[in-house]
Amino acid sequence: MILCRTKTELQDTLKAQGTNPIIGFVPTMGGLHEGHLALVRQAKRENEVVVVSVYVNPIQFNNAEDLKKYPRDLERDLDMLKEVGCDIVFAPEDAEMYPEKPTENYSFGALETVMEGAFRPGHFNGVAIVVKRLFDLVNPTTAYFGEKDFQQLALIRALVEQEDLAVEIVACPTVREHDGLAMSSRNTRLPEEDRRIAPQIYKILRDCRDLVDVLTPAQLKTFAEEHLKKIPRTKLEYFEIVNAKTLQPIENWSNCPKRVACVAIWLGGVRLIDNVKI
Ligand code: PAF
Repeated sequence: MILCRTKTELQDTLKAQGTNPIIGFVPTMGGLHEGHLALVRQAKRENEVVVVSVYVNPIQFNNAEDLKKYPRDLERDLDMLKEVGCDIVFAPEDAEMYPEKPTENYSFGALETVMEGAFRPGHFNGVAIVVKRLFDLVNPTTAYFGEKDFQQLALIRALVEQEDLAVEIVACPTVREHDGLAMSSRNTRLPEEDRRIAPQIYKILRDCRDLVDVLTPAQLKTFAEEHLKKIPRTKLEYFEIVNAKTLQPIENWSNCPKRVACVAIWLGGVRLIDNVKI
């Protein structure tokens, strides 16, 4: 496995892979867990060369405290990536990604005005900027993203279409802990007591899935909000049942066959997101 710290190192390493290799790319912010490794394993099965980026992208954080506390342990991440057969790791410093203040301004219309977009102003522009720059550097055949960040996935698909990029986006299912909690780099920041409470979030999402035949979307939203608010030490940011394609909240089940229930909730000082297809 080759570690590249600069764009030049990465480009030289990619050139050395031969002409037009089939490249699978997994962008990450480090703090790796089984969810990331599942993406790398899938990339490994489907490509000739696997590139993983490990970069905590400061411009996608709208909360300074969250950026400061984001887990960073490159040595541990490298060990894990080596284990699953990653070929190239790109782990740049901020000055390498942003030698100058980035000025790109992406717009995703209604996709970015709801949920994460509404609660984290500037977040998706920051994601789009870094992902576009990484795609330009790596030039992947396919890029892999987890469905836990469901809205991010929709925006990245929109970015690829807008910019006419020749990369296939593959969505991979959320990987969960044995008790159902969606794997996230932020889970390591949950104190023991909150970690015990956290699986209740997914349990409520599962209950929602089971109630689709009984309740209307509005009734289900009320049911979920009431139960989520009862979880100790939490503050609910949003619960929405949305059209999986447009991400707009739905009013009835009949004219929307693909829908997702999405939640963002603070547990103590940690913000968690999750979703289920319902
Ligand atoms: O999902 C993430 O970890 C990040 O948003 C990404 C896609 C690596 C961009 O920084």
